[in-house]
Amino acid sequence: MKRVLVVSGPNLDMLGVREPEVYGRTTLGDIEAELTGLAGELGIEVSFFQSNHEGALIDRIHAAAGDADGIVINPGAFTHYSYALRDALSSVDLPAVEVHLSNIHAREDFRAMSVTAAACVGLVCGLGADSYALGLRAIADRLAKEVS
Ligand code: DQA
Repeated sequence: MKRVLVVSGPNLDMLGVREPEVYGRTTLGDIEAELTGLAGELGIEVSFFQSNHEGALIDRIHAAAGDADGIVINPGAFTHYSYALRDALSSVDLPAVEVHLSNIHAREDFRAMSVTAAACVGLVCGLGADSYALGLRAIADRLAKEVS
């Protein structure tokens, strides 16, 4: 069974209470519960990691080389400036899909630039909590097509 690690960066533990007009009322726990159900339908294993710390995210991505086949990542604000996180994604030979709840292209100018997306195979944004589910479907589809 293919294993997908879903990584959430800083402040995403505050979903549900954080700027609900932008991010909605769905909590990260709600999203993870939905993805667990979806993983069952897709026939994949899913695990989760959230941290507010850049180094912890980098360490977990490195470890994913040994315990995952693909990554779904919402890097939060690190999206816009963490070359270290981008390099971590490039360091492991795993396909990653970047996801954002909000449409990063329709907000402040600084959000339009993703430095991490270049290390990912694709990007889903602007679809609220569904961005995570669509990201998981995309990575599952890609892993299913891999010749192993
Ligand atoms: C976000 C968008 C980022 O700009 C922001 O810093 C976040 C959340 C999103 O999911 O829409 O923390 O990644």
